[in-house]
Amino acid sequence: MARFEDSTVMVTGAAGGLGLAIATAFAVEGAHVVLVDRDAGRLEEAAQALRAQGATCEAHPADLGDEAAIVQLCAAFCDAHERLDVLVNNAGLAYGEVANGFFGLGLAKWQHFLAINAIAPLLLAEHLRAPLARAGGLIVNQSSMASHVPGTAYGVTKATLNAMTFGLASQLAGDGIRCVAIAPGLMETQASLGALGEDTMRGLTEMQLAPARRGTPEDIANACLFLASKEGSFINNTVLPVDAGNRLRGYRG
Ligand SMILES: NC(=O)c1ccc[n+]([C@@H]2O[C@H](COP(=O)([O-])OP(=O)(O)OC[C@H]3O[C@@H](n4cnc5c(N)ncnc54)[C@H](O)[C@@H]3O)[C@@H](O)[C@H]2O)c1
Repeated sequence: MARFEDSTVMVTGAAGGLGLAIATAFAVEGAHVVLVDRDAGRLEEAAQALRAQGATCEAHPADLGDEAAIVQLCAAFCDAHERLDVLVNNAGLAYGEVANGFFGLGLAKWQHFLAINAIAPLLLAEHLRAPLARAGGLIVNQSSMASHVPGTAYGVTKATLNAMTFGLASQLAGDGIRCVAIAPGLMETQASLGALGEDTMRGLTEMQLAPARRGTPEDIANACLFLASKEGSFINNTVLPVDAGNRLRGYRG
């Protein structure tokens, strides 16, 4: 029997990049996957690709910066499902102004960045608490090595997400729900390569300790599988680096 055959797993930001890799890894291991993203077109393509590989999956377009959309998404999920084994809060704003700015952004932009990168994970956990509790479930928050050196709005939102992880682990422990953050180093996705360019990607890879290869979406998917597996079931309330030793080694994000 595949490891996650009886499991239901929701992954946000699942239209591509790390989110799609995580959803694919759980689907290959037998899970029913629920894909969420604001990009409805790419989300449907991702769902069709997964179904073509034999996966059972649902696609739910939603803008996680909109509280009403989150409430509606969670209500629809609770109507259709008794339990949720894993919630992966992967959706995030990671490139462009959020990653380049600190001063001069103004209140509205800070609120927008924090809403998507740190508060949406809290609202999803809150509104999915009952099905997560029935499963003795796990919440994985997609943080970043930038959370350890928060010199950009991005780093601050991810540091806030780390704090949110500790808060959720404490608040939901009574329901038997664990909450862990993953802090990826530099992982090659279409989005990261497009935003940073080949030269910056090479320079950041050279800052790593070992291994000397570039991080892949599968490295992050494997960490999620481990945390959700029996072997990872004693891990809670922490930030797990998956970064080839890169954190704090000169990264200025
Ligand atoms: N790739 C890396 O090197 C890296 C490193 C550290 C952390 N991360 C984090 O991993 C996550 C995924 O990164 P990626 O490289 O795959 O980037 P990506 O841009 O491909 O993935 C982010 C996804 O989130 C979705 N999204 C953004 N805002 C949303 C909203 N308001 N509602 C719903 N969906 C929304 C996007 O449509 C996109 O599909 C992000 O949270 C990022 O901060 C990535």
